[in-house]
Amino acid sequence: MNICVTGTGYVGLVTGTCLAEVGHRVVCMDHDGNKIHTLNAGRMPIFEPHLEELVHRNREKGRLSFTTDFGLANRDAEVVFICVGTPPHENGEADLSAVEKVVREVASRSSSYRLVVEKSTVPVQTGEYVSRTLQIYSPGGQGLFDVASNPEFLREGSAVYDFFHPDRIVVGVDSPRAENILRGLYQPILEGKFSCPVHSSCPSSPPPTFLVTDVKSAELIKHASNSFLAMKISFINAVADLCEKVGADVEKVSRGMGLDARIGKDFLRAGLGFGGFCFPKDLQAFVRIAEKNGYDFSILREVEKINKGRIELALEKLKKELWILQGKTIGVLGLAFKPQTDDTRFAPALELIRRLQREGAKIRAYDPKAAQKTAEEIPDIFIAESPYQAAEGTEALVLATEWPEFRDLDWERIRRAMVHPFIFDGRNFLDSSQLRAAGFRYEGMGRPQ
Ligand SMILES: NC(=O)c1ccc[n+]([C@@H]2O[C@H](COP(=O)([O-])OP(=O)(O)OC[C@H]3O[C@@H](n4cnc5c(N)ncnc54)[C@H](O)[C@@H]3O)[C@@H](O)[C@H]2O)c1
Repeated sequence: MNICVTGTGYVGLVTGTCLAEVGHRVVCMDHDGNKIHTLNAGRMPIFEPHLEELVHRNREKGRLSFTTDFGLANRDAEVVFICVGTPPHENGEADLSAVEKVVREVASRSSSYRLVVEKSTVPVQTGEYVSRTLQIYSPGGQGLFDVASNPEFLREGSAVYDFFHPDRIVVGVDSPRAENILRGLYQPILEGKFSCPVHSSCPSSPPPTFLVTDVKSAELIKHASNSFLAMKISFINAVADLCEKVGADVEKVSRGMGLDARIGKDFLRAGLGFGGFCFPKDLQAFVRIAEKNGYDFSILREVEKINKGRIELALEKLKKELWILQGKTIGVLGLAFKPQTDDTRFAPALELIRRLQREGAKIRAYDPKAAQKTAEEIPDIFIAESPYQAAEGTEALVLATEWPEFRDLDWERIRRAMVHPFIFDGRNFLDSSQLRAAGFRYEGMGRPQ
């Protein structure tokens, strides 16, 4: 099948590349000339495990190409995926201007049938606006287009794995033709007919559910899923705060809860809260679209409030230990919003750094992949080349993102490098007894002193 992917970011690049890997011919389009130039020069604009080798292989096989020219990308396409950003407006509503721009392009430059697929995360009822826009701006008028919603559930850091091993593929359609096209497109995944780029032999698992719904329900599934996961995180963070007050250990509580299959262990990790380009903005957008339709989603406003409070709590903990933050040097380990990605958008680590800087603290920061993006966002911090360099001369070391390599550091070396050996483990990731035995003062989230 010939596919055009518009927006070649974390979602578009993964989707386009993986669809090429299973045999489709894909042209990825982006209006960012630098990104397309980087890709055409054989380099990667983002870090995502396994993605680089897939991009190279599929370009070589002639199934994958990159362009800034929408006309070229759209020329032979039967399916156009919309994967552009939907960032938040000041009031939390999703900014859909990039989606609209792409839809107008499709409308005005297509003379034969196209299936237009929303993969960007959009509020419910966007599909109706997409259909209407296609009709208004298409010289061909009615009947040339179908619109579908195919929400993306990939997790940055394991996006390629997630494409090949999804729990479910959701398609919201309003015509049998659209359903058949999407079923055909995902056939190799549904039937397990691909050579997996992640495993030499894949663990046996049942095929993913191909869930067909109407467009509005599919749009809602995405916002509701992300908001629910965010709610789980804020819930355990609220429990962590109570644990601190009564002297219980949130790690034991979350383990005990997670063993109940109805609850599940995932997203029950107490810490600095959630960030990234999805949860914070999707939660806000879901609250706003509910509000617009006359429903006050107060439970989700509380989820957001609890999450914002995590950074305040971290500051309080640092102040309790260091008293005055002005003039103090603080090391931060982990800057990406989660491990295995270079993405720093809405990262709790960066928010904490900004707050510490406002208090007058000096920051020495380290991340295995996100150093460059952090330096672009916060130019006035020292970016270290190793965790040891980040620890030098510090009065506190904050673990803000749980990269696996931080578990096996030479803690003796770190302690010697620090002025005051205080570790604030913002992810409850380190072995507190090992650190205390090594001479550190240790503070986590929701754990007894
Ligand atoms: N990142 C994730 O983990 C994830 C997961 C699921 C869903 N989503 C959703 O997918 C969408 C994209 O997210 P992302 O993380 O890939 O964002 P991104 O910022 O990495 O990528 C978006 C790309 O769209 C391009 N773009 C913007 N306007 C354009 C236009 N008019 N024409 C062509 N290209 C244009 C940008 O240059 C950028 O490269 C968002 O709606 C997001 O909520 C993201």
